[in-house]
Amino acid sequence: MSETVNVALGARSYDIHIGPGFIQRAGALLAPFARGALPVVTDDNIAPLHLERLKEALRKEGLEAKPIILPAGESTKSFAGLEALSRALLATGVERGGLIVAFGGGVVGDLVGLAAGLLKRGIDFVQIPTTLLAQVDSSVGGKTAIDVPEGKNLIGLFHQPRIVIADTEVLSTLPKRELLSGYAEVTKYGAMGDADFFGWLEENGAKALAGDQAALSQMVAHSCRMKAAIVARDERESGERALLNLGHTFGHALEAAAGYSDRLLHGEAVAIGMVLAFQLSERLGYSSAADADRLRRHLESVGLPTAIAGIPGARASAEAILAHMRHDKKAHEGALTFVLAKGLGQAFLARDVPDEAVTSVLSE
Ligand code: GLY
Repeated sequence: MSETVNVALGARSYDIHIGPGFIQRAGALLAPFARGALPVVTDDNIAPLHLERLKEALRKEGLEAKPIILPAGESTKSFAGLEALSRALLATGVERGGLIVAFGGGVVGDLVGLAAGLLKRGIDFVQIPTTLLAQVDSSVGGKTAIDVPEGKNLIGLFHQPRIVIADTEVLSTLPKRELLSGYAEVTKYGAMGDADFFGWLEENGAKALAGDQAALSQMVAHSCRMKAAIVARDERESGERALLNLGHTFGHALEAAAGYSDRLLHGEAVAIGMVLAFQLSERLGYSSAADADRLRRHLESVGLPTAIAGIPGARASAEAILAHMRHDKKAHEGALTFVLAKGLGQAFLARDVPDEAVTSVLSE
């Protein structure tokens, strides 16, 4: 039931260990990289649920966890949060040759990765992701960042972890909406680059979401394998890695329009964004209505939103959403870059999409 996926980046290569019960094995997996005491950064949601188990697993291998517990939530991913964490890490006495553990979801992973990359000009870190979204996406590939008022993830570094440990059992304590938000990113891998995997999700996705550990491990491992292959070929996103942004140009704009509130979680925005990207692909003659429909039906079947009308609260106009897209850091010289598709599993980058086509899809 357990799987190992390698991210092949030469001297910075690392393994992702996936399967149930991996927190109990964390000490043995970290032992080759660490000695003595090591900072373990987590948040106040994860700490009461899982921290003791991790501490015990480390203790068994002679490693002493020095916990730093952050307030849970996106607002921690700020300059103030970075300063507070950096100073707390310095207070632990961590050395340049030491190791820092990021134990949590995307916020913890992104912030700890950035702090580790900056502290003493770079300290190694490991990711022990505790959300589905972090296990299949943010903990893999070395993107680290904080948010600023000008936008999300605008201040960051590429800093690859030494190892990623994804315990699929931990996902059983995730709120359903969070789990589904991660599942949108899982579906993205199928919709973007692997029609067979999309078919597998149609058959097995619900089982995995219900907590079947074999299905979950297979699903997380396949997602990580796809991401690892892309990151190995294009670590710095000069081309192919941008395909991982399927649904994100629309999605980020919808999140911004919803004020980054919990009216719309990231994965929910990506789910709606992917359906819009397939509808835009259809409008521009690249893919069929049947593909857009199949994607929409699958996302809907697990309980994800698939239309702007499904976002609770005030609805932004097509023009307002377009304006948010223009502010996205992925916009180049005014032209919006979209990930479009020639069918399920066949995404490509389009840099010349006319505004009218985008607004007409949004207005529908
Ligand atoms: N989340 C997209 C990437 O890591 O490139």
